[in-house]
This record gives sequence, C-alpha cells and structure tokens, in this order.
Amino acid sequence: MIKWGILGLGKIANSFTKDLLLLENGHLQAVASRSAEKAQDFAQKYGAKTAHSTYEALFADSEVDIIYIATPHDSHAEWSIAAMNAGKHVLCEKPLAINKQQVQTMINAARKNKVFLMEALWSRFNPSIRAVLDLVQQGEIGKLRHIEANFCFSRPNAPAETRLFNLDLAGGSLLDVGIYPTFLSYLILGYPQQILATANLHATGADLQTAAIFKYEDAIAQMMCGFASNSDTVAKINGEEGSIHIHSKWHETQGYSILKDGKEKIISLPTNGKGFTYEIQECIQCLQNGQLESKLWTHQNSLDLMSMMDDIRAQIGVIYPSEA
Ligand SMILES: NC(=O)c1ccc[n+]([C@@H]2O[C@H](COP(=O)([O-])OP(=O)(O)OC[C@H]3O[C@@H](n4cnc5c(N)ncnc54)[C@H](OP(=O)(O)O)[C@@H]3O)[C@@H](O)[C@H]2O)c1
Repeated sequence: MIKWGILGLGKIANSFTKDLLLLENGHLQAVASRSAEKAQDFAQKYGAKTAHSTYEALFADSEVDIIYIATPHDSHAEWSIAAMNAGKHVLCEKPLAINKQQVQTMINAARKNKVFLMEALWSRFNPSIRAVLDLVQQGEIGKLRHIEANFCFSRPNAPAETRLFNLDLAGGSLLDVGIYPTFLSYLILGYPQQILATANLHATGADLQTAAIFKYEDAIAQMMCGFASNSDTVAKINGEEGSIHIHSKWHETQGYSILKDGKEKIISLPTNGKGFTYEIQECIQCLQNGQLESKLWTHQNSLDLMSMMDDIRAQIGVIYPSEA
C-alpha cells in the first residue's frame, strides 16, 4: 500500500484529499501544517493517522511514502527538494516551480535520490482530455490548424497580499491558470516555433491577464488567462475536417463534443470525484511499477511547459523577487 502525506493544508489540499479517499487504494497516512491546530483538524476531518505541526516532521515520518506538496508556487521547489532529500516520493502542485531553472534543480534532486517526482498537472489525466488527444492524433478532425483555450475568472479586487497577486508568492494569472491553456497547446501541437505574448499587469506587478499566441509550422494556438473577467472556459480544437470542443470548465471537464459534417456528437465522460483521482492513480501505478517518472507527464514535459511560461514572462516583464 502506498501511504500519502499532505503538506500545506489550504484549499487544494482539501479537494485533493477528498478525491484520494474515494480510491480503494488511496491511503492518507499523515498531514503537515505550519499550525498544529490546523494539522489536527485536517487529520481528524479526513482520518489521517498523524498530524505534524512542521513540514520537517512530515519528511522524517518513516510511515510516509509519497508527499503531495500543496503550498503556493514560490515554495514548491524548496519543499519538494527537502522531501526528496529525505527519501520521499513527490507529487507537487502545478506549476512545478516558478521557472525552468528551479524545475531542473528539482529533477536533479529526484534523480540523485532515486525517487519519483511528478507535477500535479491533473488535466493531463482527465479521461476526456486523454480521449481528445487520441482522437486528434487519429485524424478525427483532419489536419490541425487552430486551438483556442482560455481560463479566466473575475477577481480583480482580491487583496494584493493573497497568492493571486502577491509577487513574493509568484502570484499572477499565467502560472496559476494560464498554465492550463499553455499545456493544452503543448500537449496537442508540441513545443511552438514562436511565442508572442502581452499582458495587463496588476498594481503589484503580477499579471492580471495575459494573452499568448503559439505559432507552429501549420497551426496557431491562442491562449488567454486572467483574474480580470470571466471567460467561457471552453477549449476549441479546430482541424480542416471538423472541430472538438472540450466542455467548460475544460481543464476539469466532464465531456466534449465533436463537430463534423454539420452535426454535433456529444460525449459525456464524468470524472470520479473532482478528477484528482486520475493523477493519484498514475502516481500509485508508477510507484508500484518502480517507475520514477510518469510516461504521460514526464520531467521533460514539465521543463517544456515551464520554458514556454518563462518565455511569456520575459515578454510581459514579470520577474519574481527571488529571481531579481
Ligand atoms: N490543481 C488544481 O486544480 C489547483 C487548484 C488550486 C490551486 N492549485 C495549486 O495549489 C497550490 C496551493 O493553492 P491553494 O489555492 O490551495 O492555496 P492556499 O489555499 O493559500 O493554501 C496554500 C497552503 O500552503 C501553506 N503555505 C506555506 N507557506 C505559505 C505562505 N507563505 N503563504 C500562504 N500559504 C503557505 C499553507 O498551509 P499551512 O498553513 O497548513 O502550512 C496554506 O494553507 C498553488 O500552487 C496552486 O497553483 C492547484
């Protein structure tokens, strides 16, 4: 049995844990917070055996096999590396780190310690997104020409110190939500030949909303992300012989439509739980097979995705304080 530890008990840690507990082989062993009370409450709520009041105590817990890192982006690298140096396998929330250099350092730590490391890019394991990838690769909509994907929600007045806008926490819409449409273009069309990007910045200097165009030899992808207004969160993949629309919210979708020959075929693929179950199963399967890397979302994939976002950030002029 693979025993899980959860580090950083915020919003996503709650959603993830609910899904972990839906799985027959999902065993929650321990949780860790900077607050003893929060750790105890969380452990009690979800039935974890141990509640740690420091992250370091979780690293030292010999009962734990894999640690899920759920802190803000800026500390993903630090806590993942500390966990891996303690011999733990790691599933780390997206984005894996704040820049490519940090991602490479994390991969080096995984290799040195011979432990599993994966970015928790859960959309990669969503059943509809897997099916859509298969369909476009089989030529269902002909030669691919255009992808349009967005992820925006309206929270322009969120406090500047929260992780949405706080540059110290690597705030901004690109790393938080823009990572998803960027990922979709990369998944379907690969690494682009050229990236063009622009943004409106928040008063903190974080990107409030960002648009990017990814140019490929025969195709163009457009991505839009932001915290300034809502968007339809439908992803559209257009080929010469038809289109596929991944239903809203496309990054955690429950289905998709194939639009072809004047008809629409709707396919419904409800997820187990919210959909974190699939990335969890991938980790468990890899560990059971002795694989230190997922074949579906590799270390190189995480490096490439971060590299695309580094390129966008260079163009929109967002630098995090730790990079200055
Ligand atoms: N996959 C998804 O759908 C999804 C959705 C939302 C977020 N995320 C990712 O998950 C990460 C966390 O997001 P969240 O929305 O869960 O954030 P959150 O609610 O603010 O929780 C983050 C937790 O990290 C810990 N933490 C450690 N250092 C911190 C610091 N300096 N400031 C604030 N918290 C700190 C805290 O836990 P303790 O107090 O217990 O130590 C806090 O509760 C982000 O990287 C985000 O991109 C993923």
